[in-house]
Amino acid sequence: MKLPKIKILDEKNKILHQKSTEVTFPLTAKQKQDIKDMITYLTMSQIEEEQEKYNLRAGMGLAYVQIGVPKRIFVIVEELEDGSFKNYVVINPEIISQSEEMIFVGEGEGCLSVNREVEGIVPRCARITVKAYDETGKEYKIRVREDIAVAFQHEIDHLNGILFTERINKNNPYQNIDKMREI
Ligand code: NI
Repeated sequence: MKLPKIKILDEKNKILHQKSTEVTFPLTAKQKQDIKDMITYLTMSQIEEEQEKYNLRAGMGLAYVQIGVPKRIFVIVEELEDGSFKNYVVINPEIISQSEEMIFVGEGEGCLSVNREVEGIVPRCARITVKAYDETGKEYKIRVREDIAVAFQHEIDHLNGILFTERINKNNPYQNIDKMREI
């Protein structure tokens, strides 16, 4: 695989803190290519050999704003048990329902734009249902759970200019840990 030429912005960049705008259809050729590139990048970042070759940090999600375009698009690449990859292309998403049960990632959430250790837990819903559009402009509904639900919420936050670090209580980074399930 050839590593796409994309530059992932660091948390210090102001664009990451602004709200991304809605996408209109049809997508432009550049937008379609950027989506492909983001998927390829994430896929390669999860393959050990490519990771070492290009010195990549593993990531499962990327929002368009992280490569400098503040439009409401994100992609997620999930490695399945058989070693294949499942891609999610999510455009103009809207959370239409969410579980009461809350979870957090025990080892901490990571973000390709945050290049430092961050202490604390990020409360997330265990399950959410999202309405969104695919790259052809077709509307769909998807229910996601566990780590994929966390990834969706993390990426939707990006579209609203919010980084996971801002979801951690500064004065009490492990606040309410007993009210949530660790994944
Ligand atoms: Ni992120």
